[in-house]
Amino acid sequence: MANDASVVSDTLSPAVSKGSLADLFTPPADSTLWRKNFLLGAATASYQIEGAVNEGGRLPSIWDTFSATPGKVLAGDNGAVACDHYHRWEADVEMLVSLGLEGYRLSIAWPRVMDAAGVPNRKGLDFYKRLLNRLKEKGITTFATLYHWDLPQHLEDRGGWLNRETAYRFADYADLMSRELAGTVDAWATLNEPWCSAYLGYGNGHHAPGLADHRFATQAMHHLLLAHGLAVPVLRANDPASQKGIVANIGRGTPNSDSAADQRAAHLFEVQHNAWILDPLLKGSYPQDLFELWPGTEPLVLDGDMQTISAPLDFLGINYYFRTNVASDGAHGFRDVPLEGVERTQMGWEVYPDGLRDLLTGFKKTYHNLPPIYITENGMASDDQVTDGHVEDTQRISFLKRHLAAVDQAIKAGVDIRGYFLWSLMDNFEWAFGYERRFGVVHVDYSTQKRTIKRSAELVAKFLKERKARA
Ligand code: FCB
Repeated sequence: MANDASVVSDTLSPAVSKGSLADLFTPPADSTLWRKNFLLGAATASYQIEGAVNEGGRLPSIWDTFSATPGKVLAGDNGAVACDHYHRWEADVEMLVSLGLEGYRLSIAWPRVMDAAGVPNRKGLDFYKRLLNRLKEKGITTFATLYHWDLPQHLEDRGGWLNRETAYRFADYADLMSRELAGTVDAWATLNEPWCSAYLGYGNGHHAPGLADHRFATQAMHHLLLAHGLAVPVLRANDPASQKGIVANIGRGTPNSDSAADQRAAHLFEVQHNAWILDPLLKGSYPQDLFELWPGTEPLVLDGDMQTISAPLDFLGINYYFRTNVASDGAHGFRDVPLEGVERTQMGWEVYPDGLRDLLTGFKKTYHNLPPIYITENGMASDDQVTDGHVEDTQRISFLKRHLAAVDQAIKAGVDIRGYFLWSLMDNFEWAFGYERRFGVVHVDYSTQKRTIKRSAELVAKFLKERKARA
């Protein structure tokens, strides 16, 4: 199909070139973001953009099942068509290139590339080969995530992440993908946001597969992290030149008062959000405070598991969105106390860039072996409309500027951060919120699949162009 995106031209739209919005975005002269080796890219995920769920031999995933279950996804939306990226990938790559983005983080759909017996599906593999080859031809740095939540349904039917066997199947899948795609991927991420897979999927049921028991969540987490740990040496053996890492979403928890109980509540919030994942990866143990918060939920851990899980990483991907203000729940936990009068996004999430800086500088103190970091997702949803062919996403422009400033501050405080990926390249299927929440820097009209570059993307493109032109 023709690329119907209104591709950024040399002459930016008048409102942008006049300066006001550009000033809102452009990093100050002393920002480390002007350094050319700081990678700036955009991210997507397979189920959120590909569509074509029944094509090319793709098998059902837990998100097909979950979104077909009444009441689970807003407006009954599902990923059957999404952004139709499976068919429009060439134009989408052109769009990425036209924006001057230097990196692209995508994910591979496990149910597209292997059947239940582990037999490779050539058609699915070819799709990713073509896509990654094209990205390499265009000089884009590629980050491939192996698991961005679309577990094959046949594995869920056998217990999913509650079944230790799934971790071994994941290592087989990582083996296949790294043999097939070696040379086209610059960085492999095993998992995207194990917190969401384990907690939202098995702990509170907001995501597929929709189970709700803290005991399930901790066991699922253990098997997810084990899957990661088993996959890392396989990726190293098959594709030694690439970087290997994992992507964690991190949450800032702040206490509602100075009371010791509220301080403890904020600490426990961050333990379950951050240390639950980062401690096993970087210290080789689960934080004991987690089991104060959720008593009796210790997972079954076999000898050697923690060593497998804590194998050294080449990078840590960090996804950050908002903070949560909490108070003690009067027992051994915390409760959310939403702050009044703060800036929020379409998701209701508070805009709080300092949280990103504070978490990153905190991790540097806590984890002596903290690997180099990429911000693998950051962005916001707004109810964007196309007017006269343009989308004025002013809040996003300001959001991105402030979060990039937080990254710059963390770098200046000594954290090794090497890049930043916007979430997301384009509007897409936002999980339980369906298509209503628009996170893209490119607008998608789902009735026509027309892509329209938003002002935010124009300004990122303008910045990248200026950066490139500098001596
Ligand atoms: C993250 C997910 C990503 C997207 C953003 C908004 O938790 O990794 O797929 O949904 O949130």
